[in-house]
Amino acid sequence: MMMGKGWFLRLVMVIGVMGWCWWCVEGLGVNWGTQATHQLKADTVVEMLKDNGIQKVKLFDADESSMSALSGSGIEVMVAIPNNQLAEMNDYDRALQWVKKNVTRYNFRGGINIKYVAVGNEPFLKSYNGSFLNITLPALQNIQNALNDAGLGDSIKATVPLNADVYESPPNNPVPSAGIFRPDISDLMTQIVQFLAKNNAPFTVNIYPFLSLYGNDNFPFDYAFFDGVANPINDNGVSYTNVFDANFDTLVSALEKVGYGNMPILVGEVGWPTDGDKNANVGNAFRFYNGLLPRLAINKGTPLRPGFIEVYLFGLIDEDAKTIAPGNFERHWGIFGYDGKPKFPMDLSGKGQNKLLVGAQNVHYLEPNWCMFNPDAQDLSKLADNINYACTFADCTAIGYGSLQQLGCQWKCLICI
Ligand SMILES: *[C@@H]1O[C@H](CO)[C@@H](O)[C@H](O)[C@H]1NC(C)=O
Ligand SMILES: *[C@@H]1O[C@H](CO)[C@@H](O)[C@H](O)[C@H]1NC(C)=O
Ligand SMILES: *[C@@H]1O[C@H](CO)[C@@H](O)[C@H](O)[C@H]1NC(C)=O
Repeated sequence: MMMGKGWFLRLVMVIGVMGWCWWCVEGLGVNWGTQATHQLKADTVVEMLKDNGIQKVKLFDADESSMSALSGSGIEVMVAIPNNQLAEMNDYDRALQWVKKNVTRYNFRGGINIKYVAVGNEPFLKSYNGSFLNITLPALQNIQNALNDAGLGDSIKATVPLNADVYESPPNNPVPSAGIFRPDISDLMTQIVQFLAKNNAPFTVNIYPFLSLYGNDNFPFDYAFFDGVANPINDNGVSYTNVFDANFDTLVSALEKVGYGNMPILVGEVGWPTDGDKNANVGNAFRFYNGLLPRLAINKGTPLRPGFIEVYLFGLIDEDAKTIAPGNFERHWGIFGYDGKPKFPMDLSGKGQNKLLVGAQNVHYLEPNWCMFNPDAQDLSKLADNINYACTFADCTAIGYGSLQQLGCQWKCLICI
């Protein structure tokens, strides 16, 4: 046979040009948030990841217990700097310290396979009133430069997980190809994109079809899912049948307009909640994932970016200590409940063989406590205070409007602690 090394290299080159990576496992990632009153043990969570073949995880900090549980697991990790530490990271020495303590320390054979550092979390959300506008880019620069100085910059990239509202299409031309960065932050976004490009780092965006629906009762319901719509959006001959693609391509267009149409994009969060709103339920979540996962598996991509998309599901486990300012659904994004029980059948490999995922092992349950409304009570003056008390120490989001609406159930469903 005359096929030596040259043949193999040519094949690799051809495949490289096609943008494929058939020899590496392009697994799906999940977000592991820990804002829960009774957290599962970190080792238990890492075991769940392994049991379900999940090879990438995105964290919201660099908490020591999660990190040591991940150590030696081979799971690829995105560590993070929370928004409230961004200001500190404007000091380069502080950024150096952070990298030393939370990245370099784990960078050994059998340590942790850190691939990204997330600098902030959706820092430009409008609800933050611009608090992080001036400090995010300097923090990003300092962290990437600190990684570079530590000799890790080739393999570990800093990125900023951004909310999808950093870009938009003008109201008079609401199609993906008209996408631009939000005018009030477009200079800042351009500088961030330039810095990411200089370091070969990806743009990270969180895309939530559920929120498109939540924010707008006129939103075409089926467009939030992936099984087709009666009236696709026609964008100069390109047909959009779901808001995920349309949203993603709006970003591609915005990047193109600032000269970086080929920048790699990573979807930092995508998912569907199962409670706390009329559209947040297991049926819709199943429908959403059952559409999303197979598309990811066949590297369908979007009309403007066919091919592989790196994606992290949001989220792994419900978090009952999250703020419910955005809505009661906020505590119910997990593909697993608080206690690590799978909620509905799914197939993370996208082959459509939906079955319940492997849940957490050896979970210790507390004695259940119940608050019940006494139907014979004469004095109801303290009722509101009592509900308030119970709901401070237990999660009551499942009994809000659109969730479990029957009054008969409400008080019985209230677990006190
Ligand atoms: C490392 O990360 C932890 C958890 O996010 C954080 O509290 C700590 O301040 C970081 N360490 C340094 C030296 O910055
Ligand atoms: C943003 O401004 C609104 C209205 O002034 C205020 O209610 C809210 O608390 C502010 N949020 C933050 C994060 O500062
Ligand atoms: C950000 O910087 C600009 C220009 O220096 C300044 O006008 C603005 O008040 C700053 N914003 C915040 C939230 O610190």
